[in-house]
Amino acid sequence: MMKRRIIDILRHGQPDESVTIQGWVRTKRDLKGFAFIEVNDGSSLANLQVVLNAELPEYESLLKQANTGSSVEVTGKLVASQGKGQRIEVQAQSVKVYGEADPETYPLQKKRHSFEFLRTIGHLRSRTNSLGAVFRVRNACATAVHQFFQERGFLWVHTPIITRNDCEGAGELFTVTGFDFKDIPRTETQEVDFSKDFFGGKAYLTVSGQLEAEVMAMAFSNVYTFGPTFRAENSNTSRHLAEFWMIEPEMAFCDLQGNMDLAEAFLKHIFRYVLETCPEDMEFFNQRIDNSVIATAENIIHKEFERITYTEAIALLEKSNAQFEYPVKWGLDLQSEHERYLAEHLFKKPVIVSDYPVEIKAFYMRLNDDEKTVAAMDILAPKIGEIVGGSQREERLDVLEQRIQAQGMNPADLWWYLDLRRYGTVPHAGFGLGFERLVQFMTGMGNIRDVIPFPRSPLSAEF
Ligand code: 4AD
Ligand code: MG
Repeated sequence: MMKRRIIDILRHGQPDESVTIQGWVRTKRDLKGFAFIEVNDGSSLANLQVVLNAELPEYESLLKQANTGSSVEVTGKLVASQGKGQRIEVQAQSVKVYGEADPETYPLQKKRHSFEFLRTIGHLRSRTNSLGAVFRVRNACATAVHQFFQERGFLWVHTPIITRNDCEGAGELFTVTGFDFKDIPRTETQEVDFSKDFFGGKAYLTVSGQLEAEVMAMAFSNVYTFGPTFRAENSNTSRHLAEFWMIEPEMAFCDLQGNMDLAEAFLKHIFRYVLETCPEDMEFFNQRIDNSVIATAENIIHKEFERITYTEAIALLEKSNAQFEYPVKWGLDLQSEHERYLAEHLFKKPVIVSDYPVEIKAFYMRLNDDEKTVAAMDILAPKIGEIVGGSQREERLDVLEQRIQAQGMNPADLWWYLDLRRYGTVPHAGFGLGFERLVQFMTGMGNIRDVIPFPRSPLSAEF
């Protein structure tokens, strides 16, 4: 018989239908003469209840084996459930236990575990309700990302993970080869130990696919990346990972306004999609994690984001300087306490802050006419802080060369990037959305390590 997903049975199953399911036992209740097991296959938050009658072949040994955590296949008939909170259950006709889980040692017994504890069993934690809901919502977010861009004719481009450039110029690069090739003359290449220096020079894990996305946008107009990025920043916070996923759209013939409009429409689309497709999981987060996530999501979908300039933001924040650990003044970068103050307290919705001082932003951002600010924009979200960082790019060759030099970088290293300004340059813009911060925002999860299956952060990467 064809195996069915538990979510489909819970939604559409009718009494008298024969079904086969496969999954892991979440709980077992022995009621003397019969027993209930609840089975979960990851397709939904809800378990399917299975009734085991004493008449089943080898009932006693079955009961011993079907503990929490064991893997089973059940074939039986659907019947209307007497139990509360469930419409339908399975009357088992045959049960096969694939693998037992010793109740003495299996760490996920039926009780609530702290997220800290669950991080120590990263290989098992996806079997819990909360992490299960997170990873289903994460999947829905990813689907919504592709849907949004594909519907608008954006090309998904695959930018490299190993690169030779530091896109953000912040020096937060993981080096791929530990061997500096610069001192070795080119003619001696054959002598070089390629196991130490594979690329004939320093190479890094990418911090952003933006520069390569710009290359592709200059051919395809509208593109986006969606892939892993890496930052060797020693930030042991609940918002930073050493390995995180980023979505980076890049649009030719687009300015800062167009960029902000797209980013706002994009976030609205993802929230709408997740509310529609994951209502049970979102309800779970609202009840168990943060009782404002659904209201927040509705707010994102229906209210316009606030838009202010950096200069206006500083003026607003200076009024509350007394309460900040780091008081603000024009020219300083916003800390997460300031970002959250704006989004959480002042506006109570996402805020798009634009036109930051040139000194605190990356070399590629377009210099404004005032020559003090650049056409940058960050989206600040309540509880998260910066969730999106973007800008209109500097499309003027001479200005870009000056900016690169001013930041102590070598224009020769970026010859190919500068070529984009030599041959058919156009105004263009894009942004990066931190995917894990988005999932955190969506679910209300407090720590970014709990929204990615295998978190990497300083001094922790278990396997
Ligand atoms: O603001 P960032 O550094 O911008 C860029 O990388 C640009 N090249 C993007 C672009 O214009 N194409 O990073 C973008 C976003 C941040 O707003 C944040 O959400 C996320 O990436 N991010 C991180 N997320 C988790 N852990 C970290 N260490 C992160 N660093 C940045
Ligand atoms: Mg940023």
